[in-house]
Amino acid sequence: MEYITVKEAAMQWGISVRKIQILCSEDKLDGAVRFGNTWAIPKTISKPVAHRAKTEKYIKEEERTVEPILKWAGGKTQLLPEILPRIPNKYNKYIEPFIGGGALFFRLQHGNSVIADSNPELINLYQQIANNCEKVIQILKTYENSEEMYYRVRSIEWTDVSKIEAAARTLYLNRTCFNGLYRLNRKGQFNTPFGKYKNPTICNDKRLWAASDLLKNTIIICGDYIEVLEKYAERDDFIFLDPPYMPISNYADFRRYTKEQFCEQDQRNLADIVHKLAHNGCKIMLTNSNHPLVKELYGDYMIKVIQTKRNINSHGDKRKGEDVIVTTY
Ligand SMILES: C[S@@+](CC[C@H](N)C(=O)[O-])C[C@H]1O[C@@H](n2cnc3c(N)ncnc32)[C@H](O)[C@@H]1O
Repeated sequence: MEYITVKEAAMQWGISVRKIQILCSEDKLDGAVRFGNTWAIPKTISKPVAHRAKTEKYIKEEERTVEPILKWAGGKTQLLPEILPRIPNKYNKYIEPFIGGGALFFRLQHGNSVIADSNPELINLYQQIANNCEKVIQILKTYENSEEMYYRVRSIEWTDVSKIEAAARTLYLNRTCFNGLYRLNRKGQFNTPFGKYKNPTICNDKRLWAASDLLKNTIIICGDYIEVLEKYAERDDFIFLDPPYMPISNYADFRRYTKEQFCEQDQRNLADIVHKLAHNGCKIMLTNSNHPLVKELYGDYMIKVIQTKRNINSHGDKRKGEDVIVTTY
C-alpha cells in the first residue's frame, strides 16, 4: 500500500496537521499506521467527512462516552491533542498514579487500568462512583447552588459523614466552588470560596453513570505513587505520570492538592523511578513544566515543549506557560 505523510494529507484535505494526528490517534482514519511520533496515511483514503465534529474542539458532548467528573487544577484536557498522538501503539496495563481529574484516563477508557492518588477524598469519590453511583446521585440531587448551602456543606468534614455522602459533598463543592479549585487550609479543611456561578450543572447523571461503568473495572488506590508503581508496574505497561509541576515562579503553579507538598527532592526521586521503570521495559509518558531541572532530569528521553494556558493561579487570569511531555519509548 502507498502512504502519504500527515503534512501531505493536511494540504490535500485542507485540515490542520494536528487535527489529522488526533483523528489517527483516535483510530478514525482507516489504515493509518504509526511510526514513532508520526503517522503514515494510506494514499487511497478519502477526506474524512465530518472531520470538524471529530476533533477535540468540536466534538459533541453526546459523542464522547466518558468524561472527567471533576474540574481539577492541572487537568490535562487542554493538552490531550498533544498527548494522544504520543500514546504507545500497544501496551498492557494503563497506570496513572497521580490521577487528579483523570483527563487522559477517561479519554483512553483502557480496560485494564490502575489509577491512584495520595488525596483520600478524591479516591473516595472515584470508589463511591464505581460502587454506589445511584446513592451518590440521589444525595447530589438534594443540593442547590446557593451560597448559604455551599458554606453549610463546606463546613462539614468529609471524614465525619458516610463515604457516600462524602462523595456527593466532594462533587457538589467541586461544581459550585470558585474555579473548581481544590484548596486546603493548614488544618486540611477545604477552604475554596463559593463560585457564584449562575447555573452550574451540579449533577450530570449520564456522565456519572458512564464514569461509574469505567471505574467499576479499574483498580483504584489511595496511596503514594512510589508504592503503586512498585506493586503494579510491569514490562510493556503504559505509565502516565502527571505529578504536581515544578513551579516556574512563586505564584505560577497551583500545587497544594493535599497537605503535603511535592518538593524538589520528590521530583528527583520520581526521575530515579522513571529511569528504573524505563530500563525494565515500561513505556512512560510524563508531563511537567518547562523548568531547567525537568530538562536535566529527563535529558535522556524525548522532550516536547508545548505552549499552554494555565487556568488556575492565584491571580485568576489566563497566563501562558510552557509544559513538557517526556516520553521514554
Ligand atoms: C497535576 S495533578 C494530576 C492532574 C490529572 N492528570 C488531570 O488530568 O486532572 C497531580 C495529582 O497528584 C496527586 N499527588 C501529589 N503527590 C502525590 C504522591 N506523592 N503520590 C500520589 N499522588 C500524588 C495530587 O493529589 C493531584 O491529584
